[in-house]
Amino acid sequence: MSHSLVTIFYIVAAVLFILSLGGLSNQETARRGNMFGMIGMLVALIAVISSDAVTSYGILAAALFPAVLIGGALARKVKMTQMPELVAILHSFVGAAAVLVGLALQLNPLSHKALSPIELTIHNIEVFVGVCIGSITFTGSVIAFGKLRGQISGAPLLLPARHILNLIIVFATVWLGILFVGHSDNAITILLIAMVITGILGIHLVMAIGGADMPVVVSMLNSYSGWAAAAAGFMLGNDLLIIVGALVGSSGAILSLIMCRGMNRSLPSVILGGFGTGDGGGGSISTPDGEVISIDVAGTTALLKKAKSVTIVPGYGMAVAQAQHTIAKITKKLRKNNTHIIFAIHPVAGRLPGHMNVLLAEANIPYDIVMELDEINHTFPATDVVMVIGANDIVNPSALDDPNSPIAGMPVLEVWKAKDVIVMKRSMGTGYAGVGNPLFFNENTSMLFGDAGENVDAILADL
Ligand code: TAP
Repeated sequence: MSHSLVTIFYIVAAVLFILSLGGLSNQETARRGNMFGMIGMLVALIAVISSDAVTSYGILAAALFPAVLIGGALARKVKMTQMPELVAILHSFVGAAAVLVGLALQLNPLSHKALSPIELTIHNIEVFVGVCIGSITFTGSVIAFGKLRGQISGAPLLLPARHILNLIIVFATVWLGILFVGHSDNAITILLIAMVITGILGIHLVMAIGGADMPVVVSMLNSYSGWAAAAAGFMLGNDLLIIVGALVGSSGAILSLIMCRGMNRSLPSVILGGFGTGDGGGGSISTPDGEVISIDVAGTTALLKKAKSVTIVPGYGMAVAQAQHTIAKITKKLRKNNTHIIFAIHPVAGRLPGHMNVLLAEANIPYDIVMELDEINHTFPATDVVMVIGANDIVNPSALDDPNSPIAGMPVLEVWKAKDVIVMKRSMGTGYAGVGNPLFFNENTSMLFGDAGENVDAILADL
């Protein structure tokens, strides 16, 4: 394919990626956005494969086909609840790719043989920055993968001099960068040392972040992976990779800010770590206790039938129980009964940005009855019944009442203001942030214990 045709394909792909991001910003257009993204990626692949950048189709096929087979098989097998960890590990691949591209360029004498001194300096900066961002993204994403999978504890690792350690690594990296760009004889050794220490920084940054702040980490690593891809684009001189990397990098950064706003955190404080620890106020975290009122399925159905207004609050447990389809059927029945029914979505419910919206859309719950936190909080005092399905941290009043709580300051759904609250969960266990929840001991709260999937099935049958 001629160079100008490749450029046209790149422009078409870039436009499709922008349309894709635009589509993904709204539930109603998300499917279309996804389709644009897939077509854009296909156009980009065709352009790259038929450009003169590819010198051996044999090597390309050997790299591409096993990847397509392994990726395809894993994607078919992955459960919806495993999506967050899948996303985290995919971010790590982008980081690893940027590191490998940088090292390969450094080891290939042809890549910088004919460059003028200025061009060589720019080339070295690209390689150094690409390897460092790639390394942070790779190790940080692997740790995030372990935390989201539960293989690494969600509790933050708080080394005594953690901020000093981070600063030392940052200064050492800058110093190594100056040496590297200044055409040192030991360039590859310097690059490898920088790769290792920025990798340690990635591990340390994510290890220091507590469970409650993981949503911001996921979106931040998403942003890093974009910048790593953009850096790889600079190194390879590939305009499309630069555009796509910048789109992912900046949209990930915007998402991180939205997540921070949703949790009432500042981005620097999350990055510096230590939240989600309960060390914020210096005092002790109060452990809620008291009498718990249980309710059975018949009691729940009776409350639902009587209620004029019902709000459903879905959380991570709904995703685990895959209860959304039965909940959609219950919603239909209640609406036929003239019950005013709405869904309340917290920005960090579940384990992925938009996790609950995706599940509700999958079950064809109408978009106009799905409300965000700030739209719904003032309506709870006038609500008859709130049904909390597998949610915990996002309805925890201690976020507002207990300054020592690891989730102190996070806006939550104030469900306790409703007349009756039914909480569906299997035990008195804590949620992702590991914090006890006083809501369960309130007089107007009834606990419907058991798997949310089985319980909603029984409620539907009873209705
Ligand atoms: P959580 O606070 O994690 O609570 C989920 C609850 O669901 C658990 O307490 C669990 O209690 C219950 N559960 C699990 N399986 C169940 C089942 N089969 N049937 C019934 N109940 C079940 O979830 P949330 O309220 O959605 O809050 C999200 C948390 O995850 C926040 O702390 C957030 O910061 C964090 N997080 C979010 C993200 C994003 S981007 N959304 C990413 C990483 C972390 P039992 O074990 O007693 O059943």
